[in-house]
Amino acid sequence: MARLVVDPAFVAGALDRRMFGSFVEHMGRCVYTGIYEPGHPSADAEGFRQDVLELVRELGVTAVRYPGGNFVSNYDWEDGVGPKDQRPRRLDLAWRAIEPNQFGTDEFVAWSRKADVEPIWAVNLGTRGIKEAVELLQYCNRPAGTELSDRRVANGNEAPYGIKVWCLGNEMDGPWQIGHKTAEEYARLAEETANAMRRVEPGLELVACGSSNAAMPTFGEWERVVLERTYDLVDHISLHAYYEPKNGDQASFLAASEEMDRMITAVAATADHVKALRRSDKQLTLSFDEWNVWYQQDFPGELGLDIREVSPLIEDTYTVDDAVVVGSLLITLLRHADRVKIACLAQLVNVIGPIRTEPGGPAWRQTIFHPFALTAKYAGPTVLQTAVTGGPDVDTAAFGRIPALWSTATYDESTGEVAIFVVNRSETDKVDLEIPLARGLRLVEHLALYDDDRTAVNTATEPDRVVPRAVDGTQVVDGNCTTTLPPASWHLLRIK
Ligand code: AHR
Repeated sequence: MARLVVDPAFVAGALDRRMFGSFVEHMGRCVYTGIYEPGHPSADAEGFRQDVLELVRELGVTAVRYPGGNFVSNYDWEDGVGPKDQRPRRLDLAWRAIEPNQFGTDEFVAWSRKADVEPIWAVNLGTRGIKEAVELLQYCNRPAGTELSDRRVANGNEAPYGIKVWCLGNEMDGPWQIGHKTAEEYARLAEETANAMRRVEPGLELVACGSSNAAMPTFGEWERVVLERTYDLVDHISLHAYYEPKNGDQASFLAASEEMDRMITAVAATADHVKALRRSDKQLTLSFDEWNVWYQQDFPGELGLDIREVSPLIEDTYTVDDAVVVGSLLITLLRHADRVKIACLAQLVNVIGPIRTEPGGPAWRQTIFHPFALTAKYAGPTVLQTAVTGGPDVDTAAFGRIPALWSTATYDESTGEVAIFVVNRSETDKVDLEIPLARGLRLVEHLALYDDDRTAVNTATEPDRVVPRAVDGTQVVDGNCTTTLPPASWHLLRIK
C-alpha cells in the first residue's frame, strides 16, 4: 500500500494563476473558424464564437499568449489593425499560409476581455526589431496623444490596453524560425529591445526566449548567454516542450512529467548560475509558455506544407492516455510553483487544442480539456509538498526507474480545502493508496480520468465519450482515506 502524506505546513510555493494560461496563434484554424468565425450561428457581432468562448471560460484559462508562435517572427502587426476591408492578405512564411488579417491586435484584446483572460503579447524579433516592438507597445498601452496611440483611438479604442506581459520573440534558437539567431545575436537584440520597451513603460513583465525544447543542441548554453545579457532587464525566461510517444514506447510517454520536471530544474539552475555570476539578489522566474502533447511525428514540417488558405493544421485528436499525461504535466508545473509563474497550454482551439470546432458546426471538449479544467478550478493559492512512501516504481526506457505515483496538492486557507492531484504512471499495475487525514477532515469528492480503452477519444458525434468520473469505493475510516488508482489514471481528491 502506498501512503501519500500532505500537510499545509509544508509549502512548495505560492500559485500564480497565470499557470493556467493558453496560447492562440495564427496557425491552422486556431483563430479563423476557431475563436473567430463571423457567420457562425453562435458568433456575436464581432464574429467571436460564443460556443467557444463558453468552453474557454469553463476550461478556466487565465491568460492567453498571442499572436505566435512561429507566426509572430514574420508578422507585421500593422497589417492587422484598422478597417478590415483595407487590411492586406499576406503570405505567412511560418506556416506557408495566406493570412487574411481579418483578426488582429484590437480583435484579440476585445476577445480576451470577453473570455476574461489576461493577454500576453509576443513581439516579432525575427524579421523586425526594436522599433516595431516599441511602436506596437505604444499602440497598445499609451494614452491618446501620440501618433501611435491615436491610431488605436481612431480604430475605436480610447482606453489603453494595459498589456503587462511581453515575450521578446519566439523560439529564436530554432533554425526553422524566420530570423533565427545565434544566442549572442538574440541576446543583444533582446537586451536592446527590453531596454527600449522599459523606456516606454518601466513596469512591464518581459519574457526572454529560452530554448525551443530541451533536446536543442544549444540547450543550457543558450539560456546562459541570453541571461548574461538580459538578467537585469527581464523577469522570466521561456521554456517550450511538447511530448509524444516515441517508437511506441507508451511507458516512457506516461512518464513525460519526469522530462518536464528535469527541464524546469535545469533552466532554473542555469538562471541561478547567472544570478551567482552577477552577484544578483534578483530571482528570475520561468514562463513555460508552450507545453502540451503534440504528435509531431505526424507533422510533415513547415516545408512539407503547400501554400494554402486557412485550413486545418496539427488538429491532434487526444486519447485517454494523452489526458493522463496532460494531468501529470500540470502536476509538474504545480510542484514548481515557486519558479514557474506563467504556463501556457499550447494551443487553445483546434491546433493541438483542448477545444475542437467544426466550421459552421459544433465545438467540443477534447480529453485533455478535463484534467486542465479541474486543476484550474480546484487548485488553491498555496501549493503543498506531498510525500509518497511505499509506492511501486516503474521502469522506463527514457527515464530509468521512477516512482509510479506523481502528485502534488494545494491548500486554500480561506476554505480549508486541500486538493490532491495524483497520477498513476504505471500502464500495467493498479496502486492501492492511503492518505492519512488530519482530525475532522472529510473527503468532498474523488474524481478520476481513466478508461479500459486508453485510446478512446472525444469527437463531434461523441463529444463526451471520455469524461471524468466520480470514483466509487474511496473510503475514509478512522481518519484514513483509502482508494485504488487504476493503471494510467489521473485523480483529483478534494478534502476539507
Ligand atoms: O505551437 C506550435 C508551434 O510550436 C509554435 O508556433 C512554435 O512556437 C512551436 O515550435
